[in-house]
Amino acid sequence: FTTDRIRNFCIIAHIDHGKSTLADRLLEMTGAIAKSDRNKQVLDKLQVERDRGITVKAQTASLFYNHQGQQYLLNLIDTPGHVDFNYEVSRSISACQGVLLIVDANQGVQAQTVANFYLAFEAELTVIPVINKIDLKNADPERVGSQIEKLFDIPREECIKISAKLGTNVEKVLEAVVDRIPPPVARTDDPFKALVFDSSFNHYRGVIANIAVFGGQVRKGDRIVSAHLGKTYEVNELGLLRPEEHQTQGLSAGQVGYIIAGMKDVKEAQIGDTLYHREQPVEALPGFKPARAMVFAGMYPMDQSEYQGLRSAIERLTLNDSSVSVQRDSSIALGAGWRLGFLGLLHMEVFNQRLEQEYNASVIVTAPTVPYKAILSSAKLIKEHGSEEITIVNPVQFPDRSVVSEYLEPVVLGTIITPDTYTGKIISLCLSRRAVQKNMVYIDDQRVMMKYLFPLNEIVVDFYDLLKSLSSGYASFDYENAGYQSADLIKLDILLNGLPVEELTTIAHKDRAYTTGKAMCERLQDAIPRQMFEIAVQAAIGSKVIARETIKAYRKNVLAKCYGGDISRKMKLLKKQAEGKKKMRLIGRVEVPKDAFINVLKRD
Ligand code: GTP
Repeated sequence: FTTDRIRNFCIIAHIDHGKSTLADRLLEMTGAIAKSDRNKQVLDKLQVERDRGITVKAQTASLFYNHQGQQYLLNLIDTPGHVDFNYEVSRSISACQGVLLIVDANQGVQAQTVANFYLAFEAELTVIPVINKIDLKNADPERVGSQIEKLFDIPREECIKISAKLGTNVEKVLEAVVDRIPPPVARTDDPFKALVFDSSFNHYRGVIANIAVFGGQVRKGDRIVSAHLGKTYEVNELGLLRPEEHQTQGLSAGQVGYIIAGMKDVKEAQIGDTLYHREQPVEALPGFKPARAMVFAGMYPMDQSEYQGLRSAIERLTLNDSSVSVQRDSSIALGAGWRLGFLGLLHMEVFNQRLEQEYNASVIVTAPTVPYKAILSSAKLIKEHGSEEITIVNPVQFPDRSVVSEYLEPVVLGTIITPDTYTGKIISLCLSRRAVQKNMVYIDDQRVMMKYLFPLNEIVVDFYDLLKSLSSGYASFDYENAGYQSADLIKLDILLNGLPVEELTTIAHKDRAYTTGKAMCERLQDAIPRQMFEIAVQAAIGSKVIARETIKAYRKNVLAKCYGGDISRKMKLLKKQAEGKKKMRLIGRVEVPKDAFINVLKRD
């Protein structure tokens, strides 16, 4: 294929607007997969993706398309929609010249539509607006067209109205890809230069890097160098992704495909890295800003004997997801473990679910925290840390007020789009989360877009769920980093019969300490089953208790039922209890169900 017959594009959209469904249709129409019901969302390969019905990892597929008697090579990169995975979107975009911006004909423009549009716009890509789900009874493509015109300054006539589900007008999407998106500017006779835009790890084959060839060509057996580490590799295998791997002899300028070159670790194929021929060094591509972890949590084995197993599971999972940061950590209460950093809470939950599903690991996850900062005032500590400013990702290590001159918390700029009937409720919710309104505009006669500056910790755990429930699912939310602000912070401990529960230690804003502490005690009271003795549940700042609940003792003896019964029945009952206990954590004498911890953090 000469480059003028190549188009590289990705599909971006708000969650559930139909990216994966459209991708399926495009794959079918170009013969990459058979038309059948079993081929639903073929690009969502992971178990979690299928369970949750979301795309987590971007996927690539090369399609052959016949247009007006000419054969074209279309490289499609499917991207995730959720805000936590925005990073994947920006990566995918850098390998493309255009995007299909999908908008649901019923829901209209949503918060992530806006965020994703700007990612594409700033990268100067051609944007083809596609209004999907026109088959729905409540579809209003005209209204959506005018929103797109108003917000993105794209003439409404440019919108393609389709039903990805039924296949209506999908042909027009392919035509627009060829007609409107420019071919890649890449020359086959230039030196070889490729961008690594994704990578994964396979136990048998090593690192599989997804690359976009920006110039020249590469063939099997070539000796290539990765610019970042300057190491040389021999190309063992390469090819197209259709979406299954399809080996070829070479890849040339403008093409997108995969390459295997004896790299043993994804760190060797860093995302954003440049590959070139050993004999023809080129200037490295600008690459990407590294993903920044926004949510940190401790992960510990349920039992220290499972430490090695969990370690190798975490290692293997992070091999495929370089956006997770890992640090060894240990605690008196929980033993040896790790502190992991994630892009957001969903990212953390997905990681945890994959650990349990794919590696059968049983993990204790501590209260998630955002990366706070402290400006130290103690000369001794400054010397110890080598700097005045420290980042705190573990609440247990929160430095005391007496050695700190200022605490800082991360803030984000949030975008909320909602039907105007819910604005009142949403504004009160935002105020209760210490948010400051920055902007509010109507995007049509019924929908409002609001911008708020939020402390990140106020939205990390449950803000999105609350927003959804108080707007009957209609409001959408997205956010971007906006730096740090000064904040009056304290460390809040939760005690069970006087013993601190390390999993639940959190950092809170001073004004919110009492409400947070009280609510955590109440929810912990509900989450812990009654036991043989009374349990005091307390929230404390230092040695000062600020809230308390009591779990009354449990009177009945489980074995009473078996009184006089045969011994095997008694054993069975005890065994059942023991199995139940496996999922319990012992704090002092108190048994706490493992899933209690995360539930306790969710506010009503
Ligand atoms: P994420 O991968 O989670 O970001 O979602 P997505 O944008 O890929 O959406 P997906 O393709 O999974 O579709 C979401 C839902 O909308 C699914 O239940 C689809 O069946 C449905 N859907 C997609 N396209 C259409 C359409 O044209 N009409 C109707 N009625 N439903 C559609």
